[in-house]
Amino acid sequence: MAFLADALSRVKPSATIAVTQKARELKNAGRDVIGLGAGEPDFDTPDNIKSAAIDAIRRGETKYPPVSGIVPLREAIAAKFKRENNLDYKPAQTIVGTGGKQILFNALMATINPGDEVVIPSPYWVSYPEMVAICGGTSVFAPTTIDNGFKLSAEALEKAITPRTKWLMLNSPSNPSGAAYTEAELRALADVLLKHPQVWVLTDDMYEHLTYGDFVFRTIAEVEPKLYERTLTMNGVSKAYAMTGWRIGYAAGPIELIKAMDMIQGQQTSGACTIAQWAAVEALNGPQDFVRKNKAIFQNRRDLVVSMLNQARGIECPSPEGAFYVYPSCAKLIGKKTPGGKVIDGDETFCSELLETEGVAVVFGTAFGLGPNFRISYATSEKLLEEACTRIQRFAGSLV
Ligand SMILES: Cc1ncc(COP(=O)(O)O)c(C=O)c1O
Repeated sequence: MAFLADALSRVKPSATIAVTQKARELKNAGRDVIGLGAGEPDFDTPDNIKSAAIDAIRRGETKYPPVSGIVPLREAIAAKFKRENNLDYKPAQTIVGTGGKQILFNALMATINPGDEVVIPSPYWVSYPEMVAICGGTSVFAPTTIDNGFKLSAEALEKAITPRTKWLMLNSPSNPSGAAYTEAELRALADVLLKHPQVWVLTDDMYEHLTYGDFVFRTIAEVEPKLYERTLTMNGVSKAYAMTGWRIGYAAGPIELIKAMDMIQGQQTSGACTIAQWAAVEALNGPQDFVRKNKAIFQNRRDLVVSMLNQARGIECPSPEGAFYVYPSCAKLIGKKTPGGKVIDGDETFCSELLETEGVAVVFGTAFGLGPNFRISYATSEKLLEEACTRIQRFAGSLV
C-alpha cells in the first residue's frame, strides 16, 4: 500500500508469533496441540511483587513518571548491577523502558545512521535485525556453529567488523540457542573489540538468572572494564521474575547515550507504567528465592528435553547453558519423506509437518538466521514436554 512507510518493506513479521497463531488456530479447530513456541515463563508473578503493585495503586502512584524511570527503581537497578555484576553505574546512568525490547529499540534509534552496521551473531533473537532495519541500519550476521555451542568466535567477530560497524549485539544466555558465554569466551571477544574502538556493545542479559549447573554468568563490561565506556548493559524483569506482561526492562551505560535514549522516550511514551515500575522495585530489592526455585525447575526440564531429543532419530540436541530454549539440528532429516510422501526440504517444512501430523508447535531455525534447526521453548510442564518429545521422536522415526 503506497500510503505506508518505505521502512515497513524492510521489516518481516515475527515467525514466533506466526507459529503461535497457527497453533492457536489448530487448537480452536479441536486439534490436540502442544505449543512449545512461547518465549515466556509458565509461572505466575510472585505475590510479593503483585502486592507491591497493588500498594502503589493504593498510594496513588498513578501520575506520569520521570521519563527515565522512578528514582527508587533506578536506584534498585544501580544496586543490582553492583551486587550481581560488580558494575558501578550511578542511577543517572540507568534507564527504564517498556520492556527490554523498547530499550534495545531506543538505543538503536539514538545511534544508527543510514548505512551503519550492526554485527549480530546468528542464530539471533528475531527482533534484532528488524529493529536495525527500521532504524535504517544494516545487519551483518556473524554465523556460529553447533560444534562451538552456537557461540560467536573471536575470528567470526573480527571478520564481521568493518569501519561502519557501530554495535555488536551480544545475547547471553541466548534466545534461541540457550548458549551462554563463559568469562574466557567473553575475554576473547573483548580482545577483538579493544582493537576496534568504533564498535560499541549492546549486551542483552535478559536471561541472566536462567543458567544451569555450575555455569557462572558474566557480562562483558565486567570482564573487560575498558569496554565499560562503550557498552550498554541491558536487562529486565520479564524472564527472571515471570513478569512478561508488566513490560519493564532497563539498561545502564554511558550518560550521553542514556540521555539520548531519554530524549527519544520523552517523545514516545513519557516513560514506563508507574505501577509496573513499583513492582519491579520489589522484584529487584525483594527476596530472590523465586529465581533460585525456578532455575532448578528449568534445569530439570532442559535435561529431560535434551535427553529425549537426542533419542529421536536424526536429531542432534546440544545441552545449552541457559535460557529456556534448546536449538536442535534436524540436518540429518533433510531430504527424507513423510509417510504421506512430502519431502522435508528444510527446517520450515520439518516444523510445519511436525505441527500437522503430531500437533507439536516449534519454531523453525531459519527464522533465527541459522538452520536447519528448530527452537523449543521448555517453559511448560514436564508432563507436556515429555509428551511433546515422544511425539517428536515418533515423527522423526516415521521419516524415510
Ligand atoms: C533475547 C531477548 N531480549 C529481549 C527480550 C525482550 O523482553 P521484554 O521486552 O519482555 O523485556 C526478549 C523477549 O523475548 C528476548 O528473548
